[in-house]
Amino acid sequence: MKTKTILTAITGVAIAAGLLFASADMSIAKERRDAYSFPQNAAYKQECSSCHFLYHPGLLPLRSWQELINKSDKHFGENLSLEVKDKEELLKYFTANSADKSGAEFSRKIMGSIAVDATPVRITETSYIQRKHRKLKKDVFARSAIKSFSNCGACHTKGTEGDFEEDNVKVPK
Ligand code: HEC
Ligand code: HEC
Repeated sequence: MKTKTILTAITGVAIAAGLLFASADMSIAKERRDAYSFPQNAAYKQECSSCHFLYHPGLLPLRSWQELINKSDKHFGENLSLEVKDKEELLKYFTANSADKSGAEFSRKIMGSIAVDATPVRITETSYIQRKHRKLKKDVFARSAIKSFSNCGACHTKGTEGDFEEDNVKVPK
């Protein structure tokens, strides 16, 4: 009887410890998920994903997105023909989610790699992103399944979820 009580107590402690670990695990998982979340916005998806990969708003500072929106009639040779209400909606979205605000680790690193007086309009020209890809040769980007360094989603299988972790990179042959 006594042994049984002790055993029950031990089992109870073990279960409690297990639950504690499980909940610690879950909160780490949640933290990671939050860090990689891609804040959704219908206007952003509608206006900015028909020609290329939908870039996570945390990949550039707000001033860069403002520059892109304000000059959207001359967007790398394209006129995006954005209506005033779309511009307003997009600026609101970037104000809330750009690299200055985003909690993602890559945002912090990108911010740290841009001079305070610089306003890059290309993610691929920021020094953090260049440094992270310096081992990839030019002809890798030229592969037919990739085409361009700007085509993040070709290699980052979870890029559309805001996850650029090494584990989820697969460079097409
Ligand atoms: C009509 C087609 C088109 C649409 C729509 C479009 N873009 Fe682009 N975008 C381009 C082209 C072309 C490039 C240059 C790609 C290249 O040089 O490989 C580009 C490049 C970019 C880049 C730089 C990528 C890099 O190399 O780091 C950003 C950022 C960008 N676009 C943001 C946007 C945003 C924000 C919107 C929506 C407001 C948008 N684009 C909508 C055609 C488009
Ligand atoms: C040709 C394939 C390819 C393309 C295209 C590409 N990447 Fe990568 N990227 C990689 C590889 C491979 C690594 C891993 C580098 C390493 O850490 O060894 C990487 C690393 C990264 C990292 C760092 C991840 C970390 O945790 O260290 C970020 C952030 C990133 N890429 C973002 C981007 C963005 C944004 C784009 C598009 C503008 C892009 N990449 C385009 C292959 C690519």
